[in-house]
Amino acid sequence: MGHPLGTIARLTKREALVEITTAVRSLRAVRYYSDQEIEPAQVRRWVDTARWTGSSKNSQPWRFVTVRDSDRLEALSRLGEHAGHLEGCAVAVAIGMRPGPHPFATALDLGRVVQSLMLAAHADGVGSCVAVFEPAGNVRRAGEMLGAGDELVIDLAIGFGHADHTAEPAAGPSPPDRLPVDVLLRDERFNDV
Ligand SMILES: Cc1cc2nc3c(=O)[nH]c(=O)nc-3n(C[C@H](O)[C@H](O)[C@H](O)COP(=O)(O)O)c2cc1C
Repeated sequence: MGHPLGTIARLTKREALVEITTAVRSLRAVRYYSDQEIEPAQVRRWVDTARWTGSSKNSQPWRFVTVRDSDRLEALSRLGEHAGHLEGCAVAVAIGMRPGPHPFATALDLGRVVQSLMLAAHADGVGSCVAVFEPAGNVRRAGEMLGAGDELVIDLAIGFGHADHTAEPAAGPSPPDRLPVDVLLRDERFNDV
């Protein structure tokens, strides 16, 4: 088995940490995609990275399904108001979560594994954007469409693809639309938020 950090293990620890913070800072939602294809092996590598994400009690409650079929992508893109970009992506990865006893923990596990997948793709120069299925009826429909059975809940899929820079301006490294640290961070107590 390879080292869980993969190629990053060849960097010094400091170099690796700089790369990780740069990746987090520069990750933007990409909703318009070029025609460039994404190989199944590439998605497999992203999942191979994301599976190292920590989860509540190490339950690893996530399962993944790739969707490339254009009719299926189009059907998924219609599951609510926020999934339209799935229609144009090169591949979508739907995430099925096994519900645990604590919904908060399941939601947190989902968020963490989503970020891991998106960062792994970002490291390959591939853009992505979450597509949440809502309301509840569309979550059920996603499960039916993707053969999830009763065990897994599919709240979202992630659209992946190389960014179409003609359709959307390329993201810069310093996003202007984030709250400053001085607004976000307090010492000891949340006074004056
Ligand atoms: C939990 C979560 C759910 C999201 N759901 C959607 C979605 O359903 N459709 C969509 O187009 N973008 C979705 N996004 C992307 C956000 O809109 C985007 O991250 C946010 O506007 C900030 O933009 P940026 O990531 O490009 O900096 C979601 C992001 C997160 C973290």
